[in-house]
Amino acid sequence: GMKFTIVGAGSSYTPELLDEMAMRKQQLPVREVMLYDIDEKRLGIMEGFCKRFSQKLGLDVEIKSTTDLDKALYGADFVDTQIRVGGNKQRVKDEKIPLQYDLVGQETTGAGGMMKAFRTIPVMLNVARRMEELSPTGWLINYTNPTGLVTEAVTRYTKANIAGFCSGGIFPKMWAKRAMGIPYEKVQYDYVGLNHMNFISNITINGRPVTEEEFLKIAAENDDVDLELIKLLGVIPSPYLQWYFHTNEKVAKCKKAPQTRGEYVQDLEKEVFAAYADENNCEKPAALAKRGGGGYSEVAMGFVNAVYNNVDTKMVVNVPNQGAVSFLPDSAVVEVGCLVNKTGMQPLHVAKVPEMCWGLIAAVKNYEQLAVEAAVEGDVRKMKLALLAHPLVRQWEYVEKLVPELLEANKEYLPQF
Ligand code: G6P
Ligand code: MN
Repeated sequence: GMKFTIVGAGSSYTPELLDEMAMRKQQLPVREVMLYDIDEKRLGIMEGFCKRFSQKLGLDVEIKSTTDLDKALYGADFVDTQIRVGGNKQRVKDEKIPLQYDLVGQETTGAGGMMKAFRTIPVMLNVARRMEELSPTGWLINYTNPTGLVTEAVTRYTKANIAGFCSGGIFPKMWAKRAMGIPYEKVQYDYVGLNHMNFISNITINGRPVTEEEFLKIAAENDDVDLELIKLLGVIPSPYLQWYFHTNEKVAKCKKAPQTRGEYVQDLEKEVFAAYADENNCEKPAALAKRGGGGYSEVAMGFVNAVYNNVDTKMVVNVPNQGAVSFLPDSAVVEVGCLVNKTGMQPLHVAKVPEMCWGLIAAVKNYEQLAVEAAVEGDVRKMKLALLAHPLVRQWEYVEKLVPELLEANKEYLPQF
């Protein structure tokens, strides 16, 4: 049987993984689920809930918990990482500080996303390095954001086997299901770019290219980017492209909003954790559906099935490019369709990369690689270069003011600087 470890198990998403394990229990002989977190209180609540929940699901696994990382990683077949260094408290700062300068304030995109990467990368590198020793054949399934930068850092600086994921990889399947009731397995597409900077094209249903009308129905489900714009592009951008294609409008909206997304999530978490802590409750709280990361467990366990049972599966993964995206270096981590099986992930070549997105993708990759180096080396010069390379920051007047402010706001979490 397999040992499945969850790093950051105090996250409110954890029960979704159990749900998915229960659905796949014929295929996946999970023996032990090891919950690890640094927050003992949340860990205790989650362990209690997971025990009640797995019983309700009829999932026969041993659920354990620990605050000892080595114990958590030792002999693990799969390690799912879903940490948030500094919690939503720091997320709110990532959102608010850039907004003061009328810049995008978002947890994964722009200057805020870079600070999240700075807090997170050293912690994730430590997890990966401990895995090199304690579970060298195990797989690290990363959901920790910003997942593209985390995956880039772990692949560049460690030998751990890592697959970086985002729930966005199955968004087109979700859209087609919502718009037309088509089951996931019938929908395929080309997917190219980076995490939260990608484009979907060549959608097929049962192997048949979608009609214009079907394309528009699917595209309309992505209501963060204007449909007229999607028509013009002819490809569907990730919802995160709203920050690039509707920048001023989005910034103005965020400035007017009573709360940032992080503040909203903080309130939601109170509700969700009260439900988890209730010893008579063994249902997933309804408020969980208001979180953006829903669906991630389906992808995570799909990956486990592909690797463990050696089932060729097409999945979107953050993975070294190896030629899949012609205009990026082979070693750069990209988010693309891959063939996954026991041997790992093989990126699929995308026949035609939509020409309008080359520049954006290349610029953001440029920023990401500088940001990863700045995060690892604690290098303020590279931090400045990364921000100058970022299409959503770019101007020196912003960079000069932002850098000291961002470092000050994160100082407890940046031992490398
Ligand atoms: C999407 C993204 C995730 C992100 C989430 C935010 O699903 O793909 O990377 O973590 O949204 O959701 P939240 O509820 O925290 O705003
Ligand atoms: Mn994501």
